[in-house]
Amino acid sequence: MNAVEIEEALSTLAAESFDATEFPFAFLTAFGNKETTIKRLRKGDTNASDVPGGVLQRSNIHIATCAPGTVRAAFQALRASAKTHQAKAKFLLATDGQTLEAEDLISGEVLVCEFPQFPDHFGFFLPLAGISTIKEIKDSAIDVRATGRLNKLYVELLQNNNAWATDERRADMNHFMARLVFCFFAEDTDIFPGATLFTRTVEQMTERDGSNTHDVLETIFRAMNVDVDVRATAKLPRWAEQFPYVNGGLFSGSTDVPRFTRTARSYLLRAGELNWKEINPDIFGSMIQAVADDEERGALGMHYTSVPNILKVLNPLFLDALRAQLEAAGDNKVKLLNLRKRMSRIRVFDPACGSGNFLVIAYKQMRAIEAEINRRRGEPDLRTEIPLTNFRGIELRDFPAEIARLALIIAEFQCDVLYRGQKEALAEVLPLDAQNWITCGNALRLDWLGICPPTGMGVRVIADELFGMPENAKEIDFENEGGETYICGNPPYVGRRNQTKEQKEEIKLVVGSRVKSSASLDYVFCWIEKASDYVLTTRSEFAFVTTNSVSQGTQIPIYWPHLFSKGLEINFAHRSFPWSNNASNNAGVTCVILGIGQPRAPKFIFDGTQRQETTAINAYLLSSDVQVVETSTTPISALAKMRYGNLPGDGNYLTLNLSERDALVRQNPEFARIIIPLFGAQEFIRGMQRYCLWIDDADLDFALSSDFVRQRIDSVRLTRANSPDPSYNALVDRPHQFRDRNVARQLTILVPTISSEAREYLPTAVYGGRTGTTNQAYALYDAPLWNMALIASRLHLVWIATVCGKLKTDFRYSNTLGWNTFPVPLLTDQNKADLKACAESILLAREAHFPATIADLYDPSSMPENLRRAHERNDEVLERIYIGRRFRNDTERLAKLFDLYTKMTAEQVKPMKGAKAR
Ligand SMILES: C[S@@+](CC[C@H](N)C(=O)[O-])C[C@H]1O[C@@H](n2cnc3c(N)ncnc32)[C@H](O)[C@@H]1O
Repeated sequence: MNAVEIEEALSTLAAESFDATEFPFAFLTAFGNKETTIKRLRKGDTNASDVPGGVLQRSNIHIATCAPGTVRAAFQALRASAKTHQAKAKFLLATDGQTLEAEDLISGEVLVCEFPQFPDHFGFFLPLAGISTIKEIKDSAIDVRATGRLNKLYVELLQNNNAWATDERRADMNHFMARLVFCFFAEDTDIFPGATLFTRTVEQMTERDGSNTHDVLETIFRAMNVDVDVRATAKLPRWAEQFPYVNGGLFSGSTDVPRFTRTARSYLLRAGELNWKEINPDIFGSMIQAVADDEERGALGMHYTSVPNILKVLNPLFLDALRAQLEAAGDNKVKLLNLRKRMSRIRVFDPACGSGNFLVIAYKQMRAIEAEINRRRGEPDLRTEIPLTNFRGIELRDFPAEIARLALIIAEFQCDVLYRGQKEALAEVLPLDAQNWITCGNALRLDWLGICPPTGMGVRVIADELFGMPENAKEIDFENEGGETYICGNPPYVGRRNQTKEQKEEIKLVVGSRVKSSASLDYVFCWIEKASDYVLTTRSEFAFVTTNSVSQGTQIPIYWPHLFSKGLEINFAHRSFPWSNNASNNAGVTCVILGIGQPRAPKFIFDGTQRQETTAINAYLLSSDVQVVETSTTPISALAKMRYGNLPGDGNYLTLNLSERDALVRQNPEFARIIIPLFGAQEFIRGMQRYCLWIDDADLDFALSSDFVRQRIDSVRLTRANSPDPSYNALVDRPHQFRDRNVARQLTILVPTISSEAREYLPTAVYGGRTGTTNQAYALYDAPLWNMALIASRLHLVWIATVCGKLKTDFRYSNTLGWNTFPVPLLTDQNKADLKACAESILLAREAHFPATIADLYDPSSMPENLRRAHERNDEVLERIYIGRRFRNDTERLAKLFDLYTKMTAEQVKPMKGAKAR
């Protein structure tokens, strides 16, 4: 269940007459408990309560209903109950149907309210549905409710207006919804004269069956498009004349309204009952985006970006500097005036703005700074000098684009009320400004300089149609003499495998002619490329949230040298952090923030709560002069040579399962000579047993003495001959062998090509004797065992994660990029002996758990203690070799590794442009 559904279920429950016996079950049903779960609780099978009339669901909630006036006592009984603690209840709730008392036992937060109001606090209980709330959703019952009610209306209207559900008319439908949102907001904020004017008029003037609702709405919308001067000739009915002239593009054009059913009408009235004054434009827009998106509707109300995360972009990009200037200005009126002037010319531009959350937050933060300036200057009522038209966006989809513009209008009005007072705000809000500052279109095919032109460029463009603006109102340029522009946002990331054909074409269009292998890049690089071009032409800087894939692995050598060659630098960065919305049931992604522009100092790297000041930030978001780690054909350190496992190219005919192998050996024990165990990734991680025919040329005649082997070899020959790949055709004359023939005499150390990121160490294994390998793994053949200690170390894992990157969420190993580049200090014999002992301890610790597989042993939730200790010891020994002590954290590990890499490759690596040598 999502937050919207839970809110609705609780509202229904609170509106019904209170049934003390039923309430606990109905409450739990509202949070998505299945019927069978409720049945068992009801029967008492799973009800662990020791309180009379209580219902206790293990690891969840202890509920008691009670006689009127005894809520306090019932609540105390829940608290005192031994079962509450034994059953690990997270919440307590007592109610008599008049009042309700509850406690979140994890956070200690308490709720006391009248029973009918408890759905207002639905956010308090959301952890019961596995939704770990953050502050915004808890505080925004209105946003969630508005989303839910608009959604019901939207779906009902689409079901009964087939034409409006088509692609051609979806934009009209979305435009209609945007008009409604404005009306609901306007009637609750006195923008319309008389509270609830809109909802009341609809209620009074429409038939209960909804049949004439569209007529009434069309008339209201028409009124809002008729200027006061021409009202007399517009022949509006008397009841519609009360509606003011709003236009602003929003009410211009067609007044067409979809047909309403009885249900649709009542959904509209229910939406109107909410108090829209409290709507929070920071997050409301993102929440309701899903209303108009058939695929996203399931996650209604869940997708929004938290304000603290947006501020991670905006603060270091420019807001911190404004606040510092405010601080420095003190009460100096001239300095304060200068800052106000500067702010009035700052443009914020989000070229993938969705419903405008970055723009809204930037606007609100700037208004707060301006209000403080005005307070210090003794001009608290002054009209704002920060024009809304300075907040510009591009958005592909029409509904979010419409909502973005509305969100900005709402934010402006709310700021005016907050900082200047209701009277002043109302005096200026209507008619709405008709300038078009959110462009609905494809950011990768639009000219950003046209949409957000810097001073003096004289660029003027006709923007895409939005809000049905008249032709002559579509020019969106205006003077911005001496202004700054800050580009921000979280553009779509889209990795290579998930890109549509159009997106692939756009990557080609934007970066294809500038970097080699652009097809391997994430879609988001197009925004980075366009923003960096923009920054070169004007006084600006940009900061984007992106997935961390742009700052690790193979994309780095492909793109970043090109960006740095423009003379731009990363001026601040947030290293990986989870960019989740509100919910633990939302997987979220791991993101980074990149702040890029002309070189400025100092630079900052943010990592969790830490802030590091530095002179250079590289593409891995580390303080280092090394721009890019390039692949190397041989190890830069004195390490053993690592090879790709053997490519079989055999159509699987040379591989055997256990029973095939046993049958062959039973037939003639001599065949054991031409069979060896085979290991790729799955075999050693999951403990699967496989074998292969390993036939030296000298043994071929002997091998062919078996019909089974002969048939297998014939099948390989056929497979290779018929392959469309010429490299396989070339192998047709030696069908008894894998393409590659590497095999150890004594010891094979394996590393899988891909490994789950959940594991705390890279799984590596060692096999004695002749062992076959496949190309699902890398191998060290007959290498000293201390090499395994390096692979198994935390140091190596962080290097691989950074330099080789990930495939989806798994570590992707590479010998040339990860092993050959791994910087290791020169090891003494003693170091090697110590590391060998560590590797042996790890192997022994694993053996103690035979037959557990590597997957079992390295499951982070159940990794055996002795194995963990063996790895800790290994890390301790290795890290002491590097710095004489354990590293404090991975950032320190990486800093040391990059430092060493720089020194070891000093000859080949170019220092980063603009970076000081250290
Ligand atoms: C990750 S969302 C971010 C939106 C918003 N900042 C938020 O947090 O909800 C990316 C937005 O980019 C829009 N988008 C995708 N491709 C686009 C394109 N080629 N041009 C403009 N916008 C695009 C999507 O529709 C989506 O609204």
